[in-house]
Amino acid sequence: MEDSVNQWESNIYSKGKQLNRYTWGEVYYYANRYFFPQISRNEDINVLELGSGTGNNLIFFAELGMNVYGIEGSSTACAHAQNKIAKYPNIKSKIICGNFCSHPLPFENNSLDLILDRGALTHNFSKEIKNVLTEAYRVLKPGGLFFSIHFFSDKDSRFGKGIEVDYNTFKDTGGKTFEGVPQVHFSNLEEIYELYDGFTFELIEEKSVKRYRPYEGEDSASFDIVAMKPYE
Ligand SMILES: C[S@@+](CC[C@H](N)C(=O)[O-])C[C@H]1O[C@@H](n2cnc3c(N)ncnc32)[C@H](O)[C@@H]1O
Repeated sequence: MEDSVNQWESNIYSKGKQLNRYTWGEVYYYANRYFFPQISRNEDINVLELGSGTGNNLIFFAELGMNVYGIEGSSTACAHAQNKIAKYPNIKSKIICGNFCSHPLPFENNSLDLILDRGALTHNFSKEIKNVLTEAYRVLKPGGLFFSIHFFSDKDSRFGKGIEVDYNTFKDTGGKTFEGVPQVHFSNLEEIYELYDGFTFELIEEKSVKRYRPYEGEDSASFDIVAMKPYE
């Protein structure tokens, strides 16, 4: 597993790929739709991103005065994120360079308002994904939200291709869009209900993309999930 986390550094970020500058569109959308309406402006708000990459998503929340935390395996990506976050000295923040599957998550029980996963959890093994979600449940406040965006589905055209390295998890699936990326776990609705045991759902959507140019044949399918830790 450690090896696959290192592949993000060696195959992607150290080669100058995926150095995203700005917040992913879905993060804006789901934050506006589900998160901002339920938080009070006077509170200290704590946001954690699992696989925070270059910090491009976290700056959106930092800009709004929220405390931001990231756990990211690539040292190059961490350095980019630390530079971005340093522009907000008035908030509490920390980018932890490490594997978010190494347990436990370094946060107190009931301490976070939002946990973000944009394209990170889906690149891990099923047992680890389950463990991370159990930990996420522990550290979220009651009413806290978990966004999972681009959690790949078994309806994706790459499902079943390449080498199966774990349950429904494949590497070397071929094609351009997963080039250099470690394994991909492909999920389904039944598994999502098991993974998110204890959470309630604000949203589960499965989105399919038919690709013509330039990645013809690499049709993708993935879930977007907004889950809540219920109030006791
Ligand atoms: C597709 S990128 C997304 C980056 C960022 N979330 C964004 O939306 O731009 C996936 C990120 O998750 C990180 N990642 C995946 N599994 C990880 C793990 N187990 N521990 C730490 N980082 C991980 C990768 O290093 C990579 O930066």
